[in-house]
Amino acid sequence: MKVLIVCVSVSHGNTRKVAEAMGAALGARVVEPEEVTAAEIGEYDLVGFGSGIFSMAFHPRLREFIKALPEGPRGRAFVFATSGFPVLMGPMTRLLGRRGFKVVDTFSVRALDTFAPLKLVGGINKGRPDAGDLNAARAFAATLS
Ligand SMILES: Cc1cc2nc3c(=O)[nH]c(=O)nc-3n(C[C@H](O)[C@H](O)[C@H](O)COP(=O)(O)O)c2cc1C
Repeated sequence: MKVLIVCVSVSHGNTRKVAEAMGAALGARVVEPEEVTAAEIGEYDLVGFGSGIFSMAFHPRLREFIKALPEGPRGRAFVFATSGFPVLMGPMTRLLGRRGFKVVDTFSVRALDTFAPLKLVGGINKGRPDAGDLNAARAFAATLS
């Protein structure tokens, strides 16, 4: 099975750590949206899309990349996120569905968040994603193959 992981991780590298753990479990390449074309996306059996959460949404670079993909039948996809607080996966799942993907599962994990007022206390979820979170990411990925 050919797997690709598309990831935007700009704040602390939290999502990239999760993406790399999943990538290792799946034998998948991890790329940023700008490193892959729509045509290349079509060559994969399973594509993961993930980022941190900013103002309650996935990162705009990830959303814009998906919106720019031509509609049409596509393969399977999964969604993952790191965030300070619990996150709703529905909007991203529906966006991918509108581009023809079948979203098979989602994964989210709490991670270091130093947004504005939280910075005063050094952030929340310090040290995360930790080894347990990365093990959970690997275990999640293993269920997809
Ligand atoms: C400007 C900004 C806005 C954020 N907004 C949210 C939010 O609305 N909800 C949330 O749960 N976390 C929020 N966070 C926390 C990030 O989602 C979290 O730190 C995430 O792990 C960052 O991922 P990254 O290091 O891969 O970029 C925000 C962080 C920043 C810097």
